[in-house]
Order: sequence, then C-alpha cells, then structure tokens
Amino acid sequence: MATRKVVLVGDEILRKISKPVKDFDEGLWQLLDDMKSTMAANDGMGLAAPQVGVLRRIVIVEVNNMFIELINPEIIEQEGKDVEQEGCLSVGTFRGRVERPYKITVSAVDRFGYPFTLTGEKWLARCICHEVDHLNGILFIDKCLDKSKYLKQGGKI
Ligand code: NI
Repeated sequence: MATRKVVLVGDEILRKISKPVKDFDEGLWQLLDDMKSTMAANDGMGLAAPQVGVLRRIVIVEVNNMFIELINPEIIEQEGKDVEQEGCLSVGTFRGRVERPYKITVSAVDRFGYPFTLTGEKWLARCICHEVDHLNGILFIDKCLDKSKYLKQGGKI
C-alpha cells in the first residue's frame, strides 16, 4: 500500500464528474488499498477517488470502526434531516455545518463487482453523502451553511 497525494480545493479535478468503474482488476484493488492508507495517514473518515486524482466512481468510508468500500455508489433512498459540522481532506482545516439526510440507503458494488445495498444513519449516512458528492464534482463548502464565513476567511471554491 502506498499513500497518494490528496488533491486540494482550487484544482479543477475536484469539479469533474467521475466515470463508472468497469474493470474489477488489480489496478482497482491497488487504488483502493492506496486510498485506505491515504485516508488513514490523513486521519480522514472518508475519501473519494477524485481526491487522489482519479476520476472514477469509488469511495471509501470509515465510521464507527466500520470500513466500507463503495464502487459505483447510488443513493437510492433517503429520509430525515440532520445538521452537523463537516470537514474535508481536500479543504484543509475549515469545518462548517451541512444539512444531510439522517438516513440513506446506497446501492454499490464491491471490489469484485458484486452488488450490495447498505443502509446507514447519522454519521455513516453523512459520510457516504459527502463522498458521493465528490464523484459529482460537489464539495461540502458548496452546501455549507457557513459558506460566507469560509469565503470571508479567503477559502477557495
Ligand atoms: Ni471530502
């Protein structure tokens, strides 16, 4: 496993739409392993492939000591609302409040291409929503209730 460089806000890669994964091969597994070590090295709760410069629909999350790999994820159900402070490895130290669904169900495939669905609440739901947004070029600062504070302190979009 190798640690990869995290792309920072201001880089246009973070604003692009990622493409679905079609090949479930060693290249994918290496990327997933590298993403895991990169997330751990940066003390993150989640990481999306575009954050390491790869425009593929791949995210990993680690919430409540549960590590999950989601490939080609789609949020298929959501309910409720929840507001908490979020941060992002691509944004630096800024934290701000974001409204997310309280509960979501996501469909995805695993690293071998087998489909599954997962239902999560609160932080797991939040983390998955945040990472899936990355695959669509969306950053939490776009949705942040404290966006004006972020901009005032010179934050990039
Ligand atoms: Ni992020």
